[in-house]
Amino acid sequence: MPLSTAQVVTDRPQHHLEQIVKELRHSAAAAHLTPDGRATADLGTGRCVLTFEGDHLALTATAADAEALAAVQQTVGEAVQRAAADVPAVAWSDRFPGDTVEPTHPVTADYVLDHCTPADGLLQDLVAETRAATGGASRMQVSHDEGALLTMLTRLVGARRAVEVGVFTGYSSICIARGLADGGRLLACDVSEEWTALARRYWERAGVADRIDLEIAPALDTLKALPAEADIDIAFVDADKGSYPAYYEELVPRLRPGGLIVLDNVFLGGRVLDPAFTEPAHRAMRDLNALVASDPRVDAVMLPVRDGVTLARKR
Ligand SMILES: C[S@@+](CC[C@H](N)C(=O)[O-])C[C@H]1O[C@@H](n2cnc3c(N)ncnc32)[C@H](O)[C@@H]1O
Repeated sequence: MPLSTAQVVTDRPQHHLEQIVKELRHSAAAAHLTPDGRATADLGTGRCVLTFEGDHLALTATAADAEALAAVQQTVGEAVQRAAADVPAVAWSDRFPGDTVEPTHPVTADYVLDHCTPADGLLQDLVAETRAATGGASRMQVSHDEGALLTMLTRLVGARRAVEVGVFTGYSSICIARGLADGGRLLACDVSEEWTALARRYWERAGVADRIDLEIAPALDTLKALPAEADIDIAFVDADKGSYPAYYEELVPRLRPGGLIVLDNVFLGGRVLDPAFTEPAHRAMRDLNALVASDPRVDAVMLPVRDGVTLARKR
């Protein structure tokens, strides 16, 4: 559970932040302060991000385990005391795990749902039938607001050539297919005959079946077999999380300039925030998120939509 936060109330937050960064540098931490007032202190085994807002500093410490977290808290706490002797000692929160962090408050999530173009009857039927047919797996389906986002993005890029990795029962495919320009096609990749049988039925009902090419095979094989030509307008990735870096590397070179790759679940339920989560999929997503942010081939933005959605547009 190696996350912890603290607020330090002060009448001179910016001044104190600058002083704390100086003190941290004396404590062998690699401390960096950006001109817009975001400080990071890297202690090797953990890090702390410090920002200021209004009358306080906001501190977030992360580390791989409780012991390393305690070391970060101590180093930062002592730097605060030395830099701002007149403020009370830092009161850190209890440790908490990344997978308890809600990117969006449930109340906000409901409000967002209520203020998007609503899902039509067909999509609502698909949600209900997916629940009945797949039980707990139905959680994998994209939400209405994310579906609306996919249709909008597909329209905005004027997509004629789209790729989807992870079809399940077809909700996101319908949203993408509905946004395609005339004559546009969606290559939909999945490994499940069973789940995509339901998708096929709903594609027929939605009148989009004739523009979707379903490939039942490991998606990486399907992507590798695509021509090298850079002609994809939009790609949506929502399948096995550990393979995201490989999907990204196959898709980015095939995007046309201005084309978009959309990556779902980039928060992994908050696990990417917490270095204590070390399964291969957690590491893969954390590494990919870092790579995308510094990838010179794309401009990227990470949106706190549901479980996190990254949009990367090819330069
Ligand atoms: C999160 S669900 C996709 C949800 C879908 N986008 C929707 O809106 O309903 C993930 C899907 O990825 C598929 N999948 C898992 N591993 C895969 C692989 N290696 N290649 C292709 N598809 C895979 C699963 O069968 C599953 O249908």
